[in-house]
Amino acid sequence: MENLFWRIERRPEGTDFASALALVDAPLSDLADGEIRIRNAMLSMDAGTRLWLTDREDGYQPPLPVGAPMTGLVVGEVVASRADEFVEGDLVRAFGVWGAMSQIDAVMSGAIVLDPSVEDRRAWFGPLGMNGWTALWGIEETGAAREGERVLVSAAAGSTGILAVQIAKLLGCEAWGIAGGAEKCRYLTQEMGIAGAVDYKADDVGAQLDAVGGFDVYFDNVGGPLLDEVLTRMNHYGRVAVCGLLSDYGSGRRTAPREFDQILMRRLRIEGFFSPDFMDQGERLTARLRSWMDEGKLRMPYDVTRGLENTLSAYEKLFTGGNIGKVIVELEG
Ligand SMILES: NC(=O)c1ccc[n+]([C@@H]2O[C@H](COP(=O)([O-])OP(=O)(O)OC[C@H]3O[C@@H](n4cnc5c(N)ncnc54)[C@H](OP(=O)(O)O)[C@@H]3O)[C@@H](O)[C@H]2O)c1
Repeated sequence: MENLFWRIERRPEGTDFASALALVDAPLSDLADGEIRIRNAMLSMDAGTRLWLTDREDGYQPPLPVGAPMTGLVVGEVVASRADEFVEGDLVRAFGVWGAMSQIDAVMSGAIVLDPSVEDRRAWFGPLGMNGWTALWGIEETGAAREGERVLVSAAAGSTGILAVQIAKLLGCEAWGIAGGAEKCRYLTQEMGIAGAVDYKADDVGAQLDAVGGFDVYFDNVGGPLLDEVLTRMNHYGRVAVCGLLSDYGSGRRTAPREFDQILMRRLRIEGFFSPDFMDQGERLTARLRSWMDEGKLRMPYDVTRGLENTLSAYEKLFTGGNIGKVIVELEG
């Protein structure tokens, strides 16, 4: 059987993904012991996967080799299985292949069978997916946000950020977001009901932050110059939960905060966190996120692109700011 998938041809420069990835056909091998074959229904676009396309060996995961299929989270139906606990017809989520099919080792790919009663399957990439777990963990555990505190989230109109601001609000915090452009800021305040939003693409970011007052928790998705702006506006004993360093992903640059000394001056705690480290807590986190979602308290806008051939333009949105909410590629229906 042939599979159509995106193969890494070379390391991308910036957001020029079209020169780096190619849509190719190749035969699927017979299933090995422990493997499942998934007919992918949806691909999750995740900004963190940009790091896997660089040649950095010091990241939290080794780079994907040139010549390999592009990897990412997929949701789909098991069409063949030689793995215990997976049978034909199961709806699953796993780290699979940007392609029509994913043929993967069930354990190594973190495959899990999904509850078919969840009406909107896209939620498995949003509130009930890695972004949901990450947002909840980063606000509550790493950021240790307490009721009444002021929480700031960068890339707040993106998938992880939009959940983080809502969760901060659900925990009784005053939630603020940073996003690019007036429309995203309007969306966050008016549609998501958070306390306010700062437009980092406007000239006066520092003045906008000053007008809010100090922050107790910063859930940072981007690093770079914005981190410096925020460090000088943190309250004493504040916490910075480092979720991502998006502003560096495509450039090979390393963020070195100029305002590092504020960690001492303001007695801040800065801590990185990484969702695979708490995958064993997945069921507990999903149950909480699901109850908020079912009560209509945790919402996700979806940015859906149809067709495998359009994957790269969907992916690019994460780095150019073309999305509000979760970017998904749908492959069927
Ligand atoms: N630690 C973990 O375990 C973990 C897990 C999942 C995700 N993450 C991190 O979460 C972050 C968001 O990822 P996501 O997949 O949810 O993507 P996303 O937030 O849906 O999309 C990325 C958004 O980031 C903003 N952005 C892009 N470049 C920027 C820059 N240079 N400065 C400021 N904002 C920028 C864009 O919005 P604007 O229009 O506002 O610029 C864009 O919409 C990433 O850093 C990712 O690595 C971490």
